[in-house]
Amino acid sequence: MKNAETKNIYIMSMKTQIHDKFVSLFGEGGQVFASAGRINLIGEHTDYNGGYVFPGAIDKGIMAEIKLNGTNKVRAFSIDYNAQTEFGLNEEDLPKEQWARYIFGVCRETIKRGGKVEGFDTVFAGDVPLGAGLSSSAALESTFAFALNELFHNGIDKFELAKIGQSTEHNYCGVKCGIMDQFASCFGKAGCLIRLNCKTLEYKYFPFNPKGYKLVLIDSCVKHELASSAYNKRRESCENAAAAIRKNHPEVEFLSDAKRVWLDEVRDQIPEEDFLRAEYVIGEVQRVLDVCDALERDDYETVGEMMYQTHFGMSRLYEVSCEELDFLNKLARKMDVTGSRVMGGGFGGCTINLVKDELYEPFIAAAKEKFAAKFGHEPKIYDVVVSDGARQL
Ligand code: GLA
Repeated sequence: MKNAETKNIYIMSMKTQIHDKFVSLFGEGGQVFASAGRINLIGEHTDYNGGYVFPGAIDKGIMAEIKLNGTNKVRAFSIDYNAQTEFGLNEEDLPKEQWARYIFGVCRETIKRGGKVEGFDTVFAGDVPLGAGLSSSAALESTFAFALNELFHNGIDKFELAKIGQSTEHNYCGVKCGIMDQFASCFGKAGCLIRLNCKTLEYKYFPFNPKGYKLVLIDSCVKHELASSAYNKRRESCENAAAAIRKNHPEVEFLSDAKRVWLDEVRDQIPEEDFLRAEYVIGEVQRVLDVCDALERDDYETVGEMMYQTHFGMSRLYEVSCEELDFLNKLARKMDVTGSRVMGGGFGGCTINLVKDELYEPFIAAAKEKFAAKFGHEPKIYDVVVSDGARQL
């Protein structure tokens, strides 16, 4: 069976499963909404530095059935956690379950923006692997941000919906993330990657269908416990470096505004660690532009080379890789895979690989075998299709 057909059957069965549960818990069914996880071809840790990112939504996401219940309470059931909770819509009603905080946060952030939110019942499920760096949380936030906007006719624009998800992370989940994940989840379009300038919020869709290549994710299955505090620490280093540069160059609002030589000027004034973080970010912003140019010439060799450079930077300068991801990256290089790098925030998760069709099978086989020999378990393989983001089904 073709991939797309298999996927449709899968989506239908997820929808049926959600609906059956919904009816058994809450009676008559509601409306169904969905959103997506994301990949990012290049441009990592650049979003909160006002730089460029280049993500796309994927064919793995979250689906939720929702119906207003005429109360001021939300009753939510997660199929994946097989758990139910109930919470009110006021600030003091913060639920104790982490998964429910995402929904609570989206309700609160919608209300803070003047949107109407009243009680509703919901059952939801997802197929974005958790902790793999594919933004399952952004998929969840975007599903509910989009759905509440439709259900209550709030008329909030799509960028603001993405920001509702981002503020949920900041204010209810303790992650000072940038806008990339929620942006990709809200703006995703089948077959297209999107270059976003995170400072001006200008964006451009780039059709992405590299003939003769496949994009494959290899999940190390490593999840770093302290990922969110380490992430926030990276952000602080960048802000620190930008503040030092700003003293000499007041036009530097974000680190991405700085020239490399301006960073050199302040090397002695900031901790070495902050210097290395900033060195990575300034290089990474330029790499996104180089990759977009290369794509316009169908020059996948350059795209791949930039991906390797990103991996080097994320591993050695930004220090968000780990032994398992470095191992997968090295193996890709050794096997002449066109491009490979750690994807997303890092501290575990996946590598994203641009692989020539003929190399796909041998590379996956070798990755499974060699990784298992070294780390005692096989990595997971995800073939992703660049797909639509938030929508009603
Ligand atoms: C996480 C964050 C994003 C972005 C990436 C790294 O996914 O949520 O905002 O910073 O890490 O590029």
